[in-house]
Amino acid sequence: MTAATGMSSYVTSELVRLDRERILHPLLPDGREDRTVLVKGEGCRVWDADGREYLDASAVLGLMQVGHGRRELAAVAAEQMCRLEYFHTWGTITNDRAIELAARLTDLAPKGLDRVFYTSGGAEGNEIALRLARFYHHRKGASGRNWILSRHTAYHGIGYGSGSLSGSPVYHEGFGPVVPNVHFLTPPHPYQKQWYDGEDPTDFCVRELETAINKIGPHRIAAMIGEPVMGGYGAVVPPSDYWPRVAEVLRRHGILLIFDEVVTAFGRTGRWFSAEHFGVVPDILVTAKGITSGYIPHGAVLVNEQVAEVVGADGGFPIGYTYTGHPTACAVALANLDIIEKEGLLANATETGAYLAAELRDRLLDLPAVGDVRQIGLMLAIQLVSDKESRDDLPGGTLQVTDVLREQAGIIVRSNPHALIVTPPLVLDRGTADKIVDGFRFVLERLGTDGFVH
Ligand SMILES: Cc1ncc(COP(=O)(O)O)c(C=O)c1O
Repeated sequence: MTAATGMSSYVTSELVRLDRERILHPLLPDGREDRTVLVKGEGCRVWDADGREYLDASAVLGLMQVGHGRRELAAVAAEQMCRLEYFHTWGTITNDRAIELAARLTDLAPKGLDRVFYTSGGAEGNEIALRLARFYHHRKGASGRNWILSRHTAYHGIGYGSGSLSGSPVYHEGFGPVVPNVHFLTPPHPYQKQWYDGEDPTDFCVRELETAINKIGPHRIAAMIGEPVMGGYGAVVPPSDYWPRVAEVLRRHGILLIFDEVVTAFGRTGRWFSAEHFGVVPDILVTAKGITSGYIPHGAVLVNEQVAEVVGADGGFPIGYTYTGHPTACAVALANLDIIEKEGLLANATETGAYLAAELRDRLLDLPAVGDVRQIGLMLAIQLVSDKESRDDLPGGTLQVTDVLREQAGIIVRSNPHALIVTPPLVLDRGTADKIVDGFRFVLERLGTDGFVH
């Protein structure tokens, strides 16, 4: 059979063979020969080369805010490419699109985040955040302030700096020495109450933070980085007092706060920025993904005036990426933000997210292997457990479950070893939410605590 909908002249079996032979895939499970060759997308749906339809309950990787196949974004990109496809923004050179987007972003951002440094993705943004924080203290004559506090289980990307800040051993082991002077703290995860020795999670985490600061020395710490809501670990929403109390401790010691909002920004949690839920404004806020809904790689690091002025003094901030301020990416971002605003997608994330969570809880929490359903906006996670009391993971993890969901229910969803991560496009309607719930019920009611779908 020829590819049903795409432009490819290869038949599906040839595409699969070529893929196996020529592409080094990230995260390919051992021994897997099969491939799902996607060729088309529209709204919350995508199609493979044989014409099979799937429901994209993951918004690809938590970023397809406006849904697949938006021709207006393609038109904006084409128009911009015909006018000024690309130029850098180094030194005194700039472009109209980069300026317009910076004005838009800083108007939307929490008060005080008034400067923008452009990137092409999340890891790139966190590399810049790490460098900004250390360079800020260096410029202030405190080069010894170069430690960064991060958190176990955090995900900040796979650059050398961002990977070193990510809190799982898989990003460190086997890759040689990591970036030095990074210290990991316990994140607040109310469902994993066994992490806190019976203490309130915020009290535990704040005490641990203060102990770490005293041990390392406040005068040696540049910044703390955290995802306001942990995405990769499965929609881990902290208690409401966690970020305000952490921010107060950091401020007292002159330590900068970096929020990694690569997943959470631009509506995923029902607000433009998830910082708004916690009433905390960081010094540096990293975005990417949803800024263009993935139509073109892009990212923006928002920086407060105090940091921007210090790093920009004395000859300026001396580093930049080739694609910093890419006009086509900026034009697509502007059009994408317009769609989010005009179609009321923040409100939809709040309303449809609450509806989806309520339905999932109602239909799934009675099942033996479903431990928890967490949600904020359209960022949800279904934690799978081998025992509801101990809250231990399923033996063998969750991969088999995501495969069965795709094969038997036509639902594409991501997972980590503990949870299914459900982050549909922000255009999700109730009817499609119901289909997701039905698909999950159909598969998870056959999931045993042995980790197998029977
Ligand atoms: C919170 C967070 N930070 C950073 C990244 C890395 O972004 P990228 O893959 O665009 O480098 C991700 C990716 O999922 C993420 O979830």
